[in-house]
Amino acid sequence: MIEVTKTPIFTQEIFSFTLPNFETYKKQIQQIVLVEDNKSIHKIDTSPKLECNVKAKRTAWNSNQKYESLNNLCEDIAFHIEEFIGKEGYDIPEIKTQHCWINWYGKGQNALPHYHLGHLSAILFVDAEDTNASFYCHANGNLVLHKKTDVQTNFNNIVEIKAKDGTVLFFDGGVMHSVSPNLSNKKRITFAVNYLAKYSSARNEY
Ligand SMILES: [Fe+2]
Repeated sequence: MIEVTKTPIFTQEIFSFTLPNFETYKKQIQQIVLVEDNKSIHKIDTSPKLECNVKAKRTAWNSNQKYESLNNLCEDIAFHIEEFIGKEGYDIPEIKTQHCWINWYGKGQNALPHYHLGHLSAILFVDAEDTNASFYCHANGNLVLHKKTDVQTNFNNIVEIKAKDGTVLFFDGGVMHSVSPNLSNKKRITFAVNYLAKYSSARNEY
């Protein structure tokens, strides 16, 4: 029989770091959740009117414009990502906040597989430990060849990412991801932000 060569194609990466000043941001986010979770008392609920893949409570897409603390958080995360971009020499001169929001998952709530619109997406794990919920990355829906004899497959199209509270994950906004149901009675809180790559150039004389 002829020899068949296997050539792995494409890789995707998830980047992560621990956020300095996390405890301050955590308190601010918990305050916002406390207010928006008690609409009958505070009369504030910025959640979008249209359904999305997050099957849990959340704030508005433009929460950076509604909450100064969240705008600061977006800029703080962007600062660290830009520093990394500079160090690695990636061709992204600047990143700009496109959307940001807080998610909080009650018992049994989850997020279906989806991807974001931004060029780069970041997730801060605010209070997500001990909820038995996991963040998963999904490969695209292409054919996967499994051997009949495989007890455990030799590759996988779903990868579980374990992150401690205070961790920021960032990745290409096109990476498909999901969150499994929160099996605990504890609220699972995360913060998400989408960034657009910005190529500013000076305006010519006209
Ligand atoms: Fe997401």
